[in-house]
Amino acid sequence: MRVDILSLFPQIAHSALSESILKRAQEKGLLEIHSHNLRDWATDKHRTTDDTPYGGGQGMVMKCEPFFAAVEQLRQPHSRVVLMSPAGKPLKQADAQAFSSLPHLILLCGHYEGVDQRVLDHLVDDEVSIGDYVLTNGALAAAVFVDAIARLIPGVLGDSQSALEDSHSHGLLEFPHYTRPVEFRGSRVPDILLSGNHGAIAQWRRQQAEAKTRAVRPDLLS
Ligand code: ADE
Repeated sequence: MRVDILSLFPQIAHSALSESILKRAQEKGLLEIHSHNLRDWATDKHRTTDDTPYGGGQGMVMKCEPFFAAVEQLRQPHSRVVLMSPAGKPLKQADAQAFSSLPHLILLCGHYEGVDQRVLDHLVDDEVSIGDYVLTNGALAAAVFVDAIARLIPGVLGDSQSALEDSHSHGLLEFPHYTRPVEFRGSRVPDILLSGNHGAIAQWRRQQAEAKTRAVRPDLLS
């Protein structure tokens, strides 16, 4: 997969995506991430990327022209263009799974203000939110989005890091985990996990996952 990220702060996404598992995925050639400065496609001498809103009001609006010029340069026949926005569709694990099989993503990131509606109307295939809160910078959201997708590309996670038992991968939150020591400050690992009875352990984990989901995220069960 190739990902091109267009933002005013390319270093934010670059730093977040250049460590650990995603660094190795890029070295292995499973993933290619390019974080660009949108200003490189601004044409005026001040490299302007935003302007005041028609109709008045607070804040600035990100201009069409740099987004159009950048996407028209980077787009390939199979590219998908995604705008990171708190007004987008909230990202779910199933969406991350679907995006992970695409060959090329172009991610557009806003900063504080809105983006000219013509970008959404004519360039964007998907408008994605990473949650019901507002960040100062869409580049942070893009980094989260890429991380969630990239770890689902076959080969990115090793066998020991499989995504199959993740929270959300079966519509439930994850069951509790324990490792050595068996007892820590009077708190013991549940006996069932020491029993060697794999059927009983699987059943216990399922029950724990359901109980946790009922307590913390009942919306996932309905
Ligand atoms: N930009 C600012 N807040 C955001 C959010 N919650 N999701 C995606 N992009 C954003």
